[in-house]
Amino acid sequence: MDTMNDKLTIALTKGRILKETLPLLACAGIESLEDINTSRKLVFDTNRPEVQLVVLRGTDVPTYVRFGAADMGVVGKDILMEQGAEGLYEPLDLGIARCRLMTAARVGWQSDGARIRVATKFVNIARNYFAQQGVQADLIKLYGALELAPIMNLADQIVDIVDTGNTLRANGMEPLQEIAAVSSRLVVNKAAMRSRYAAITQIIGDLTAAVQEAQSATP
Ligand code: PRP
Repeated sequence: MDTMNDKLTIALTKGRILKETLPLLACAGIESLEDINTSRKLVFDTNRPEVQLVVLRGTDVPTYVRFGAADMGVVGKDILMEQGAEGLYEPLDLGIARCRLMTAARVGWQSDGARIRVATKFVNIARNYFAQQGVQADLIKLYGALELAPIMNLADQIVDIVDTGNTLRANGMEPLQEIAAVSSRLVVNKAAMRSRYAAITQIIGDLTAAVQEAQSATP
């Protein structure tokens, strides 16, 4: 397998974002030669010989693009907010995987006015948010299943992604404050934007048209 080549590399976020990204890419004229959803491979050639796709955890996509290991990427705004966007252009909101970044607590929970304990994957976002609110928050970093933290009395609140709200409801919790609306974004390595200007602007243009088409098809 030859990945050390001159191909233009697009880093995709696996999971739900991937499922919504592939139709947009197809509409923009880029399709994997293999079924990405079922393959265990991480690098995929496409119908465009000069373009390849790699599939990563969302938290790693900005790193690959920032270092230029990938030229472009698709990643959630939540991750960009948490990690910062240094070294990256963010030219396009893909309008997919929409959800909200929220605070949440057990139903009926009320602050007693003292410090609160907040469990989250998004410690930078949470730190900034509670500082802006003037709330003294002790942050506890977790990597998943955040809804368990209030149940087990590890934390008073969580900061997490809310989509349908089903996970909160199923665990006796309720959303409190919205911190930010989230959707997936196209990011581009700043140096690649200069060195591969024509190819990258072509893809941004094609994806912009694909997003507009998708959004006009869904009321
Ligand atoms: C996310 C998030 C919530 C859930 C919210 O987890 O952390 O647990 O989705 O979705 P809902 O409002 O539709 O119930 P995800 O499934 O992405 O897994 P993760 O814990 O690995 O992030």
